[in-house]
Amino acid sequence: MYSFEIDSAAPKSELYAELVRSADALTSGEPDAVANMANVAALLWEFLPDVNWTGFYRVVQGELVLGPFQGKAACIRIPFGRGVCGTAAQTGETQLIADVHAFPGHIACDAVSASELVVPVKRGGIVIAVIDLDSPSLNRFDTQDARGIELLAETIATRI
Ligand code: SME
Repeated sequence: MYSFEIDSAAPKSELYAELVRSADALTSGEPDAVANMANVAALLWEFLPDVNWTGFYRVVQGELVLGPFQGKAACIRIPFGRGVCGTAAQTGETQLIADVHAFPGHIACDAVSASELVVPVKRGGIVIAVIDLDSPSLNRFDTQDARGIELLAETIATRI
């Protein structure tokens, strides 16, 4: 059993430091990518308040394919350049979207999603996956969330 000390009232910097430490400890020395993505999706779900979807899309033969996640069943394949995830994969840049309904081409997997943060995971400068977080609240994510998830992406990049 794994249990984590989560202080939701802690500043975001501390919350993300603890999240990254936990993800590092859980994935260190484990070569199975699916197991590692599954545990990181579960950590994101457990650590982050006010989210309705946390997980991965992987780059498979030039498109994004659904990976391990927590939340409602989601779209399976997303072409590069489509929606928030496809834009993050194509540009290699974090997408911080305050209102998904104002994002052209947003793909609604869960009607309740209102804001979204998508961070590319890169290995050797190439996007190999994206981490996707959805929230039912508008403007849920800020640059501190983005930096925290970017640090997480760097930490696990060679383990997924
Ligand atoms: N909303 C995403 C699709 C994935 S789901 O949110 C899980 C997008 O526009 O890329």
